[in-house]
Amino acid sequence: MKVTKAVIPAAGFGTRFLPATKSQPKEMLPVVDTPVIQYVVEEAVASGITDILMVIGRGKRAIEEHFDRSFELEWELEAKGKMAELETIRRISDLANIHFVWQKQMLGLGDAVRCARAHVNNEPFAVLLGDTLMQARVPATRQLLEVHARYHACVVALEEVAPAKVSSYGVIAGERLDGRVWQVRDLVEKPRPEQAPSRMAVASRYVLVPEIFEALDRVRPGKGGEIQLTDALRLLTHSQAMYGCQVDAVRHDAGNKLDFIKTNILYALTRRDLRAALGDFILEQAEQVRKSRGDA
Ligand code: UTP
Repeated sequence: MKVTKAVIPAAGFGTRFLPATKSQPKEMLPVVDTPVIQYVVEEAVASGITDILMVIGRGKRAIEEHFDRSFELEWELEAKGKMAELETIRRISDLANIHFVWQKQMLGLGDAVRCARAHVNNEPFAVLLGDTLMQARVPATRQLLEVHARYHACVVALEEVAPAKVSSYGVIAGERLDGRVWQVRDLVEKPRPEQAPSRMAVASRYVLVPEIFEALDRVRPGKGGEIQLTDALRLLTHSQAMYGCQVDAVRHDAGNKLDFIKTNILYALTRRDLRAALGDFILEQAEQVRKSRGDA
């Protein structure tokens, strides 16, 4: 069965990004001139997804309005002859069929995925974290969907991380099958480096099967009352095969300040209208930093 549905959890509190996230979701913060969540939607669409469910909380209106048509703005742009801008904003509302569901209490990523149960209606579906960009030649979600088409099972995106970093991620135990594909035997959430079964971290993109919902129902809330998606995936490994795909992509977590700033710089440097001026600015600043470090 071709996977056409995706779920984008975007309801988290974003506490690592306060005060910017006090009244707006972090997923609406811009990378250059485009909200993070729009890049995520574009990745889903470029992967063949046609139906997207966003799980939202506070700041719901900002996300909804961004993906809806804005006739007033369209008239204004048309009247002023700003046709390129008109084209840009019209394209956003034509990207996919986008639906919204409200996560009533922010009980973690697992709970956010659980909110999608009625919508996905017993079909396999992709999950893309709404605060994480994947820079890739072949869209990361498409890479997972290719593995899913082969095995008809859950597929998680994997990224090899440094031993010191494993404690920030869900990590798999398993073995490499061929090339980038792994058989997942077990998962551990945020292991200590000496206890980590591998350095393969689960990296913000998933293709899930409907059985995940029964597993989510069985998961006990962990720290802070949160339902962890990793715990449900772990339960699922007991009853069915699961795969990992080491995605050929660079992940940018726009939910923390330093990575967000780096992501903005990296994306701006790919833009023809900004590259030269930003490059000059970076070189000037680098010189200042070098001098001040030399003085220190
Ligand atoms: P994070 O753990 O990065 O989000 O979740 P958070 O809780 O907002 O982050 P901090 O630590 O407080 O800064 C990853 C993704 O899952 C969504 C988030 O919006 C983000 O896109 N999420 C998380 C939900 O939709 N609901 C939740 O209850 C938790």
